[in-house]
Amino acid sequence: MLKLVACFVLLGQVSSLFDPTTCGQGKTCVAIPDGCITTSPSTCQQGISFKRSSASFLEVELFSNNLGANSAYTSYMAIGFQPAACAEVETASAMPCMASTPVMECSALNGRLMSPAVSWNTADPQNVRIDNAADLATAVALSMSALENANGQTYCKLTQRITGAPLNGLPNANQVFQYDPTQKYAILMAAGVTNGSVLTHHPHPNTMVSKMRYQF
Ligand SMILES: *[C@@H]1O[C@H](CO)[C@@H](O)[C@H](O)[C@H]1NC(C)=O
Repeated sequence: MLKLVACFVLLGQVSSLFDPTTCGQGKTCVAIPDGCITTSPSTCQQGISFKRSSASFLEVELFSNNLGANSAYTSYMAIGFQPAACAEVETASAMPCMASTPVMECSALNGRLMSPAVSWNTADPQNVRIDNAADLATAVALSMSALENANGQTYCKLTQRITGAPLNGLPNANQVFQYDPTQKYAILMAAGVTNGSVLTHHPHPNTMVSKMRYQF
């Protein structure tokens, strides 16, 4: 009986971190190094999953296995949606993959506990805070339903309205992700340390670019 209880407790802990066993069963997973999800999930450095949780909402999981014990107060994990051609993915284009992309993030800004936010990768490209990010996040009903740091893994789960959000009239509405079914999206992920309200690139963050493009 005790063994059974211990087993349930263990399962409870595991399921609050990234669950690679449900990849391909409703959620799409992208992680590095390539193939780690299917061969040996514990060796994944970082990754994401996404799925349509309802007609209008996208659920995104982000995890990283090398951000350190205090990551919930020092780090960020961010996902970008790139509808344009990406040099790293599609060699025909010279466009930097990260440029001009809306970003969803779990970020510990100014030393506070990781929380959900939207931000923008400029054409430079550089990640910047959007002046009215809080209003945009409200309009797209951005929420974080899980945040964990256990067994060396930092994990968070975000949900955002990706179609039909009431963005009309809001400044910078183009800088928050809204899904265009005529597009296919490359997925970018970066993870690293925060410095004030900046998602730091030096030292270089852990970056990942999906090998293919997706529709949701
Ligand atoms: C952190 O930000 C401050 C203020 O912008 C800057 O002076 C400093 O160089 C940054 N530190 C790192 C490690 O990037």
